Amino acid sequence: MKPMTGKTVLITGGTGGIGKAAAVGLASMGARVGITGRDRARAEQAASTIARESGNPGVDVFVADMSSQSEVRRLSGEVLAAYPRLDVLLNNVGGFWAHRHLTADGLEHTFALNHLAPFLLTNLLLERLITSAPARVITVSSGAHSMGRIDFDDLMGEQDYSGQHAYNQSKLANVMFTYELASHLEGTGVTSTALHPGMTNTSFSNEDPSRRMAPIVFVVRPFMKSPKTGADTAIYLASSSAVEGVSGRYFVNRKTKESEESSYHTATTARLWRVSADLVGVPADMTPIRANGSS
Ligand SMILES: NC(=O)c1ccc[n+]([C@@H]2O[C@H](COP(=O)([O-])OP(=O)(O)OC[C@H]3O[C@@H](n4cnc5c(N)ncnc54)[C@H](OP(=O)(O)O)[C@@H]3O)[C@@H](O)[C@H]2O)c1
Repeated sequence: MKPMTGKTVLITGGTGGIGKAAAVGLASMGARVGITGRDRARAEQAASTIARESGNPGVDVFVADMSSQSEVRRLSGEVLAAYPRLDVLLNNVGGFWAHRHLTADGLEHTFALNHLAPFLLTNLLLERLITSAPARVITVSSGAHSMGRIDFDDLMGEQDYSGQHAYNQSKLANVMFTYELASHLEGTGVTSTALHPGMTNTSFSNEDPSRRMAPIVFVVRPFMKSPKTGADTAIYLASSSAVEGVSGRYFVNRKTKESEESSYHTATTARLWRVSADLVGVPADMTPIRANGSS
């Protein structure tokens, strides 16, 4: 029997890059894998590639633009209807944009997609994760989080926007979210970890019309990991018995690593949780939310 047989895994952003490679790895271990993407044809094409490469036909497609909160809510409803149990949620979607632009909800796009989307989706799926325990929530952050600062006075970059600051802030928010979630989930059997995948050769930042990252990527591409190698730590955190029960930790290359000092400030992580809950309209007290939005 394969190690993930009988387990169900949801991977946000599984149509390419690290998410798709993680989907191949976990499907190869026998998991039923759900991937999300914005475009149905692209997602179905990715799902058939994942099924072929893994030899596992159990790959499902969910379509949603996760920058939109109503789409995240619809997505969670579809996932809850499709999956009576959910063993792993891999929050992977993320991106970089040099120029400030707003989502359908009027929020700054980087913060909304990289932080608020996984925050909301996790909250909406929490009850299902808890009833499936032992279960795991894994959030793909970045080493860039160490240069991040949560600017509570200007979270949306209205006064001063830099793409790099917005990205770093969102990735620090991923780590803080992971730690705060872990403390709230103590005793439930659901763990919460974050990771840095390493610089990985994907489509990352290609959507940014300024192509601000392109010259850097051009220089470092020969040193970048393949998507398969970049997905290794995510696959490890999703599947390995070595990390069973391990929660509230940040990983790089399968090893725990200290994250940026400010990520451990519990007053700040709790404040970020409250502000995020307010921005997405869920209760801040961590009562698991049901699909219809009631607590
Ligand atoms: N690559 C690196 O060097 C690196 C380094 C550190 C951290 N990371 C982190 O790793 C994660 C994955 O990055 P990647 O390099 O694999 O990126 P990628 O190749 O650009 O893949 C991004 C994935 O997210 C999906 N996506 C993008 N915008 C979306 C939206 N609005 N709604 C729903 N899905 C959306 C894309 O699907 P569709 O386009 O089909 O919708 C795609 O499946 C990110 O969180 C990133 O911050 C990457």
